[in-house]
Amino acid sequence: MSGIKIKERISRETIEARIKELGKQISRDYADTGVHLVCILKGAFMFMSDLAKELTCPVTVDFMAVSSYEDQLESTGIVKIVKDLDGSIEGKHVLIIEDIIDSGRTLHYLMEILAKRNPASIRLAALLDKAPRRVIPIEVAYCGFQIEDFFVLGYGLDYLQKYRNLPYIGELVEE
Ligand code: IMP
Ligand code: MG
Repeated sequence: MSGIKIKERISRETIEARIKELGKQISRDYADTGVHLVCILKGAFMFMSDLAKELTCPVTVDFMAVSSYEDQLESTGIVKIVKDLDGSIEGKHVLIIEDIIDSGRTLHYLMEILAKRNPASIRLAALLDKAPRRVIPIEVAYCGFQIEDFFVLGYGLDYLQKYRNLPYIGELVEE
């Protein structure tokens, strides 16, 4: 644990309150059609689980894992599908659930792949958005929080695969 410090940036209570709001909005928007949640592992697992509990529209879920970081602090632009979806998304109203959008490379690539599989619609929900860092423009339909350019961890997000279990979002401060 030596060499790094974690500074709390978004509390558990603040995250919970914001997810309730997003849940209401998404429930309204998909009330008639239902929604197929696609969780991007591993970072989005906590967000997905808490958000899904707030939804009152019909919900199905699937999971996908991609790797863009290879344990670096920045995405390389090379995105690998580590685990594909179990089921087809054809004709479904897909909502991608992502932890954070940074350069936009990962999501841009993913949405391109998924759009080719003929979903009825495809949108994105991201817990965190580092908009000033964007290299490729991405439309975020549902955003939890806009943050500045600092490295975050906790609530699903990792630093070298650790700290995903923290119930709040913290900033990594190197000592
Ligand atoms: P992008 O391709 O640059 O948009 O990177 C998106 C992915 O990078 C996210 O799905 C996260 O897994 C990871 N990521 C980006 N910023 C951070 C951060 O501050 N902390 C932890 N992971 C991050
Ligand atoms: Mg991720």
